[in-house]
Amino acid sequence: MKPYSSSCDQNKGTILTVLEAVLPDSAEVLEIGTGTGQHAVYFAEKLPHLIWQTSDQIQYHEGIKLWLGETTLSNLLPPLALNVSTDVWPSKQYDVLYSANVTHIMHWDNVVDLFTQGAKCLKPGGQFIFYGPFNYSGQYTSQGNMQFDKHLKTGDPLSGIRDFDDLAKLATENGLTLVNDYEMPANNRILLWRKL
Ligand SMILES: C[S@@+](CC[C@H](N)C(=O)[O-])C[C@H]1O[C@@H](n2cnc3c(N)ncnc32)[C@H](O)[C@@H]1O
Repeated sequence: MKPYSSSCDQNKGTILTVLEAVLPDSAEVLEIGTGTGQHAVYFAEKLPHLIWQTSDQIQYHEGIKLWLGETTLSNLLPPLALNVSTDVWPSKQYDVLYSANVTHIMHWDNVVDLFTQGAKCLKPGGQFIFYGPFNYSGQYTSQGNMQFDKHLKTGDPLSGIRDFDDLAKLATENGLTLVNDYEMPANNRILLWRKL
C-alpha cells in the first residue's frame, strides 16, 4: 500500500517557500531519508529546474517507488539505497543535500556519518539543508517538542531531538558554515549550511 505522511502534507508548502528562495538555479539535489516520497514528488514538480535524487534505507524503496510511479517527472530519480552508515555513498558530488525530519530518528552515530559522508558528497559551495525540530543550548523550544522527544525515546532510546550546538560542531568539523537558521511553523527549523 502506498505510504502516506500527514506531516509531509502539512509542512511541504512552507518548506517549498524556503527552497524556492535558496535554490533559484538549476542544481542536483540528493535527498537523504526520502521516507514516503511525498516531498520528493512535490518539490520535483514545483521546482523543475532541480534534479531530485531520492534515497533511503532499502526497506522504504517500495513505498517511494509507488509515489514516483504516479508521476512522469523527468527530474525525479528513483531511490538510491543509502543507509548513511552502512551503505556506500554515491561517488559523485551534488549541489545540495536535503533532509527532513531525519536527525531525530537517526542514532547519533548515524548523524555523525550523515555530516561526515554528506560533506564529502557535496560540491564546494554546495548547500546542506535540514528541516526538523532542534533544541538550543540543551533546551526544548516548546512543550510539544519536549513531549515529542519523550515519545521518540520511548520507542527508541537512541533517537531524539538533536541540539543545534552539537550539529553546528559537526558541521564546522566537516567544513560547513551556517548560512541561515529559518524559523518554521510548529516549532520546526530549517538549518542551512554551505560547504566552504
Ligand atoms: C520520520 S522519517 C522522515 C521521512 C521524510 N523525510 C519526511 O519528511 O517525511 C525518518 C527517515 O529517516 C530515515 N533514516 C533513519 N535512519 C537512517 C539511516 N541510518 N540512514 C538513512 N536514512 C535513515 C528513515 O529511513 C526515514 O526515511
